[in-house]
Amino acid sequence: MATKVIVSLPGEHDYSVRIGSGIIAALGCNLREIERFSTIRDVLVITDSDVGPLYLAQVKASLSQAGFKAADIVVPAGENSKSLEIAGEIWSAMAQLGMGRDCVVVALGGGVVGDLAGYVAASYMRGVPVVQVPTTLLAMVDSSVGGKTAVNLPEGKNLVGAFWQPSFVCADTDTLATLPDREWRCGCGEVAKSAVIDSDDFFFWLTNHAHELANRDSETTQEAIARCVVFKADVVARDKTESEGVRECLNYGHTLGHAIESCASFGTFSHGACVAEGMRFAARLAQSVAPEAGRGAVEAFAEAQAELLDALGLESLNHGLSPEELLAAMKHDKKVRSGELRFVLVDDIASWRVETLSDDLVLAALGG
Ligand code: NAD
Ligand code: GLY
Repeated sequence: MATKVIVSLPGEHDYSVRIGSGIIAALGCNLREIERFSTIRDVLVITDSDVGPLYLAQVKASLSQAGFKAADIVVPAGENSKSLEIAGEIWSAMAQLGMGRDCVVVALGGGVVGDLAGYVAASYMRGVPVVQVPTTLLAMVDSSVGGKTAVNLPEGKNLVGAFWQPSFVCADTDTLATLPDREWRCGCGEVAKSAVIDSDDFFFWLTNHAHELANRDSETTQEAIARCVVFKADVVARDKTESEGVRECLNYGHTLGHAIESCASFGTFSHGACVAEGMRFAARLAQSVAPEAGRGAVEAFAEAQAELLDALGLESLNHGLSPEELLAAMKHDKKVRSGELRFVLVDDIASWRVETLSDDLVLAALGG
């Protein structure tokens, strides 16, 4: 049975996130049910070279059965496709295909395709609708919902982008069958992040189902995705453009995580493994700034979080990077203000805050 979560954001159309097995077959019909899509003809499906051979035919068949005329563009798989150059090629192709303001872009793939296609849609003719069809666990639990779209510049990741909410999200869990283990664990890292920030209920549910999720049990996976989407929809509803100090919680574990990824050169360690290491580190930081009287509780949380990460297959990372190089890399984080490092710290489940910390304290927690 498919699950449906409605995302309601201020100043936006509500949109549905459908999660379930085999639901790509109904994608075309689901889109026709959206009132403003009832007369649309042209659809551009953007996918990548890994996902296209697996799922593009199914998506196009579903769209054409519902009367859409679907063209496609396949970009090379990998982060390098999140570029202005590729976005430009897609805009030109759309213009050459004669696509007007009444077209729809469908993003079929992981977070790379989702971010790229979302940005392409946000800018083409000053904005055409985008539908997200996420095919990685990370994209299902995080990037396909909430409207962050972006491409990278040579100077850094996600430096050009827009907030552009999808009109519909179709998370077909059958597509996860072909996802490599490394990508599965990436998604598990984001599920753990959501559970820690969200609530006791989600955290203890995940702790009790961690082995099932690590082993890709289908019922557990569907429930984990639904819980993450409900959590993210709530966060984004309270802070759509990350300007109210709420959405920042989604960066938990990412400050050190991104630094490890960039120092070890992107791709050496999986993003999920780096985020998990960042969560362990943030818990150490929280312990080091906790008042004496409250330290026991913070330690107990750090231990419970470590056990959860271990059970999800996200063991402690032996990255071999020096505290000094990690500190320097963290200074490039988007959360840095006036050269000072800011971290999302968690003292206990669902109890988070952003704190500015001195370089010395951070170096000490890194073991320097
Ligand atoms: P990805 O899109 O690169 O996918 C990982 C790999 O798996 C790729 O090679 C892809 O082709 C392949 N793949 C995807 N689905 C598959 C499937 N079902 N079967 C087999 N192979 C499959 O990586 P990702 O982890 O999904 O996304 C990472 C990107 O997401 C980053 O660029 C990051 O910045 C972005 N992101 C965005 C947000 C947001 O809110 N917009 C949030 C988190 C991450
Ligand atoms: N994944 C971070 C965000 O959507 O804000």
